[in-house]
Amino acid sequence: MTLAELLPSIGCSTEPVLEEGVWPDGTEVVGQDLLIGGLPATQLAARFGTPCQVLDEQTVRTRARAFRAALPRAEVVFAGKSLPCPEVYRWMAQEGLSLDVSSAGELALARAAGFPASRIIMHGNVKTAEDLKAALEYGVSRIVVDSLDEIAQLGALATHGQEVMIRVTPGVDAHTHAKIATGVEDQKFGFSLASGAALEAVLRVVEQPSLRLVGLHCHIGSQVRHVASYEEAVRRMVGLIASCGTRIEQLDLGGGFCAPYLRGDSDFDLAGFAHRVTAALNYECALHRVPPPRLLIEPGRAIVANAGVTLYRVCAVKESARTFVAVDGGMSDNPRPALYGAKYAVRLVGRGGRPKPVTVVGRHCEAGDVLAEDVLLPGDVHAGDLLAVPATGAYHHALASNYNQVCRPPVVAVKDGVARPVVRRETEEDLLRRYV
Ligand SMILES: Cc1ncc(COP(=O)(O)O)c(C=O)c1O
Repeated sequence: MTLAELLPSIGCSTEPVLEEGVWPDGTEVVGQDLLIGGLPATQLAARFGTPCQVLDEQTVRTRARAFRAALPRAEVVFAGKSLPCPEVYRWMAQEGLSLDVSSAGELALARAAGFPASRIIMHGNVKTAEDLKAALEYGVSRIVVDSLDEIAQLGALATHGQEVMIRVTPGVDAHTHAKIATGVEDQKFGFSLASGAALEAVLRVVEQPSLRLVGLHCHIGSQVRHVASYEEAVRRMVGLIASCGTRIEQLDLGGGFCAPYLRGDSDFDLAGFAHRVTAALNYECALHRVPPPRLLIEPGRAIVANAGVTLYRVCAVKESARTFVAVDGGMSDNPRPALYGAKYAVRLVGRGGRPKPVTVVGRHCEAGDVLAEDVLLPGDVHAGDLLAVPATGAYHHALASNYNQVCRPPVVAVKDGVARPVVRRETEEDLLRRYV
């Protein structure tokens, strides 16, 4: 394959045209620089240092609004785990979304943001007693239970009709990576529909005088591209609702709506989802003669992934069997390539050049610390160059670690030409504070 043939599939930093849908809305190539939220990437890197996670506020808000507009009667719940940050939670509250949290820690961020408890749902396949107590104390509106032990524990801790949903494994294959496929049998999440465990959970919740069953929940996976997978989930979940023997007011279909990462990746068909899932819900409810429950959805990635761009500085270039371009971050700020084989586009900012395929690697002591393989960068890429990696808004800050005691990067929000950190850069003092 020639280089020219490769260009459309793997993205090239010297192309004037950005990968469609992958970058924050309104991102432009101006000269050789990249304008994100009205600010040149070179300027952001100089001011905030690298690595730096840039987050375009307007893109986040626009996508949150799109979900609400597509399903005006549904409750749209932001999956707080995808980008845990009080300021982002505040944007979601302002946009009228609810919030799901998966631990007392995420709930602490929600509290710090002043997120209304009446719009918070607590998740998690394992909730410790501390998680449950924190949820009850703040008065979160619903808790999604995930095991019989948890039902008993919550029943004992709750005092007055705590609203509960049950997480069900509907047995739907969402055709995604095995490590993010959560709707199929033989994985740790939820109560199996097929085995009867879900119905047993319904009975156990109903038996608990301190709990009130309001809904059923399922989450079939992440990076789900096919609306048909959600239609199938609706079909199975409504069948379960019909056999519950008690009124189920809410049906939560979870999140998992795909986001584009590379040139040619398609956006999630939100309009098609809204239309087909609503139709499936009405049809199945009529068929089973049950009142249609209120629909809930929990998008995370589809709201924040494409709002994020990570800026890295090249530290070294090594020629061996291939060209390795080593940057000042890596798997501590982006473990997704190592975890799921996730692929990213990379762009050199500030200058152009004849492209050649390179592998961008991180600074960590793991051979698997690879950020992007076979991406095209100018052939004379060298130390000091600035690289930009798009689609890094979801599960980047969230999954970041301190491996090799590397400090985690800041998250800098940009909007209308103004930049402000919403998460500051971690310092060595932060690291040392925990050591006894
Ligand atoms: C229960 C639940 N809801 C929502 C989400 C959000 O998924 P995504 O960010 O892929 O939309 C997740 C992700 O793990 C989840 O576990």
